[in-house]
Amino acid sequence: MKELTLQTKITACTIDEMNPSMRELVEKAKAMTEHAYCPYSHFHVGAAALLADGQVITGNNQENAAYPSGLCAERTTLFAANANNPNVPVKALAVACYTNGHFTKEAASPCGACRQVMVETEHRYGQPMQVILYGEDMCYIFEKAADLLPLNFDAENLERTK
Ligand code: THU
Repeated sequence: MKELTLQTKITACTIDEMNPSMRELVEKAKAMTEHAYCPYSHFHVGAAALLADGQVITGNNQENAAYPSGLCAERTTLFAANANNPNVPVKALAVACYTNGHFTKEAASPCGACRQVMVETEHRYGQPMQVILYGEDMCYIFEKAADLLPLNFDAENLERTK
């Protein structure tokens, strides 16, 4: 028996410390919180995906009276990006949350299902997707989505069962 330790590299910084293009992507995610449809939670989440061809696809959370029918901002955005640009890798995804009249001070933390979809996107294009989680006080930058979901389930796991 042995104990294994997983390590994740996270860059913690403020938005002012980011390079201009990253800051621009974060600003787009922040702007999208305004159009979130979240009458039940009042928790506005915005996301912006930078594609390899330079396009930026944006989205936000879309809630529903039948709660599970709603969808998070990250998945709304990635599905839109992938649906319309099936052959264009996603280079980076920025996420921001706004509630009670201000952006969250802590960095946004994507749910497990969104992390799974992020990892699939990365896997699909065979290249890392940077994930930028905005917080007013501190942002977190992950160099690849898989860092947010260690030991993730992917297509290789499916192969192993054969
Ligand atoms: N939400 C997101 O959009 N992204 C996440 O990663 C976590 C949660 C949304 C879902 C729901 O509309 C609201 O935030 C409250 O959970």
